[in-house]
Order: sequence, then C-alpha cells, then structure tokens
Amino acid sequence: VIGTSRGIGLGLVSYILSSNAECRVIATCRNPSSASKLTDLVNEYGKKRLIVLQLDTTSQDSYASLLSKLVEESIDKIDVVIANAGIVNRKTVLTSTVDDMMGVYTTNVVGTMLTMQAFNRFLVAAGPNSSKLMVIISSELGSIEKMAGKGSTSSPYRCSKCAVNMLAVSYAQEESFQGAGGKVLTVHPGEQTQTIIRFLVIN
Ligand SMILES: NC(=O)c1ccc[n+]([C@@H]2O[C@H](COP(=O)([O-])OP(=O)(O)OC[C@H]3O[C@@H](n4cnc5c(N)ncnc54)[C@H](OP(=O)(O)O)[C@@H]3O)[C@@H](O)[C@H]2O)c1
Repeated sequence: VIGTSRGIGLGLVSYILSSNAECRVIATCRNPSSASKLTDLVNEYGKKRLIVLQLDTTSQDSYASLLSKLVEESIDKIDVVIANAGIVNRKTVLTSTVDDMMGVYTTNVVGTMLTMQAFNRFLVAAGPNSSKLMVIISSELGSIEKMAGKGSTSSPYRCSKCAVNMLAVSYAQEESFQGAGGKVLTVHPGEQTQTIIRFLVIN
C-alpha cells in the first residue's frame, strides 16, 4: 500500500491486517520515522506481517531504493498493490498556476505511473492463484461525466484523477500485465473516515 502515514492508506493497512491473518503488508510512506500510527501497527502486528518502507512517489531514486529493500527482504511477488498516495489542489482553471498543475500531476499521475512500472514485475510474478490486482485510488472528481455542472473548483486535482483513470485503462492493457492475468481496479473511496472506507467502482 503506497502512502500509508495517515488517511485512507493507513486505514487500509489497519483493515487488511485485522481482517486477514494470512496477509503480509508492505506499507510505504515518505517519512517512516514520523509515521507514529504506522509504528503502532508494527508494534501490534509485528515486523513479519507489516513491513514499513520509505517511498516518495515523486522520486525515481526513492523507487530504486525501495526495490533494493524488497530484494533484501526476499520479496519477489506481490498479490495486490494499492496506489493510494495523492495530493489535492482545489484551485480553479483561471486561478491555477503552472506549479499548481505540475505539483498535482507529479504526485498523482507520474507517481502512479512509476508505481505501475516498479511493481508490475511483482504482480506478474505472483502465482496463478493470485489476484494480481493493481488498485488505483482515484476519485469521482476525475469523472468528466460526473463533474459536468459542478463548477470549476479543484481543477488541478480533477485533471490529475481524470489522467489517472486513463493511466489505469492503459496499464490494464499492457501486454505483460494483461497476459499474466493482471487486473486493475480504479475506485472512488467516497467521503471517508479512517474507519469507514467505502469503495465505489467508477471504471
Ligand atoms: N479523502 C477523500 O474523501 C478522498 C476522496 C476521493 C479520493 N481520495 C483519494 O484517496 C487517496 C488518499 O486520500 P486521503 O484522504 O487519505 O489523503 P491524506 O489523508 O492527505 O493522505 C495522503 C497520503 O498520501 C501520502 N503522500 C502524499 N504525497 C506523497 C508522495 N509524494 N509520496 C508518497 N506518499 C505521498 C501522504 O503522505 P505524507 O504523510 O508523507 O504527506 C499520505 O499518507 C488520494 O489519492 C486521494 O486523492 C480521497
């Protein structure tokens, strides 16, 4: 699960650990030393079930060092990857700057693409009984149809989630992934609390 220091990512890690004793979870966050709630979960479930690794999705170097940590941990297969890390920018089309747009795109779109590139081989390598699932935490704000008539707010964020939806459709048709039986699930989590996570499939 990518982006787990707080919010939905943290909630997902907690939910997965508590609901399935067989599951081993790799949780990434930008600053493991300050992710105190994640540390609490490590103390509760142990380091074998919950591995916390550093990852900044805007940095290719960060992906490279994450991949070498996975080699150190002898992890070469993953059943489900959840691309959750994301940031919001609520400005309108006319008030957004280049930095507003590029900032959200770098984290939400490029970061998700790098996540697909980094973890594809782990999903492909998972056995025939694996779900081989790439879950993309998107948003209904990325739906052109749903945003008609909803004003111009959150324009950079909306555009980024719209692009993420297309990224998901494209990745699902990558030959190596599709050929191995990989699936992509794009979800709108809805207004959430850390304990109530409601997934609505939007693609
Ligand atoms: N909350 C909602 O109602 C809602 C609705 C629709 C969709 N979503 C989507 O759901 C996802 C999670 O949202 P949330 O509400 O849980 O947000 P949140 O509470 O702000 O948490 C965002 C998480 O993403 C991480 N993150 C941000 N930039 C990152 C980067 N460059 N590299 C790695 N991690 C990064 C944050 O880590 P740090 O602690 O290091 O900043 C944090 O763990 C997002 O993709 C969001 O767009 C949320």
